[in-house]
Amino acid sequence: MEVIILPDSKAASRLAAGMIADLIRKKSNCVLGLATGSTPLGIYRELVSMHNMEGLDFSEVTSFNLDEYVGLSPEHHASYHRFMQENLFNHINMPKDHVHIPDGLATDIPSYCQSYEEAIYQAGGIDLQLLGIGTDGHLGFNEPTSSLTSRTRIKTLDRQTILDNQRFFQPGESVPSHVITMGIGTILDAKTCLLIAFGESKAEAVAGMVEGPVAAILPASALQLHQKAIIILDEAAASKLAKREYYQWVYDHKPDWQKVGQS
Ligand code: GLP
Repeated sequence: MEVIILPDSKAASRLAAGMIADLIRKKSNCVLGLATGSTPLGIYRELVSMHNMEGLDFSEVTSFNLDEYVGLSPEHHASYHRFMQENLFNHINMPKDHVHIPDGLATDIPSYCQSYEEAIYQAGGIDLQLLGIGTDGHLGFNEPTSSLTSRTRIKTLDRQTILDNQRFFQPGESVPSHVITMGIGTILDAKTCLLIAFGESKAEAVAGMVEGPVAAILPASALQLHQKAIIILDEAAASKLAKREYYQWVYDHKPDWQKVGQS
């Protein structure tokens, strides 16, 4: 794991967007795994700005999103389809048929989930998977005790996640209890995993993910098994890491040739 601690979320988002842009410039037909939630918003803003100002070209890029609520149509204001359209896809030149987001209205969910896995495989696998982390340590919507080898499937949300995500729904509207999510095994198959976390509310989950044991009770800890997992944090999210000074020292002494997206 590479842990990078930056002063604030703006600097962190800029670095993460730089890494994604570097990949797109090197491999124009790369496959991105994308995430929702408030954390990646700054990254999407940076990517849109690079598209507008520098001509960053998404025309050959393919994407697969991590998850979606079961029962929400793509037009629903809190659906992840809508989130992705409004925050990224409406503002860049990625062809519509290159975009994949789990279908919350799928009728035969098990066979739909299998076809989502097959589509990732047919696309050549995910080059870079962007990730946030839940306050309970979830990745995508893989809640505590999810199998660390799981594939795309239906999951039931933990009460904590329902409370955390209530803010995206209108007053009186309930958060769906079921979701479709890529599995931990699906995520670990990505060539690079890039996880971003901001704020004190994530500090405990981040400490468990980086320095705790690998355990299904904290699904993000599975990233310790990944060959190339990059964790970008602001100071607050890094505040409970025992070895934070070491991570800072490693980053400050990185050889130039290892620096990606840091120009
Ligand atoms: C949701 C998403 C996750 C995301 C998490 C954290 O549950 N399914 O992919 O990482 O929320 O969200 P936020 O970035 O808003 O804290």
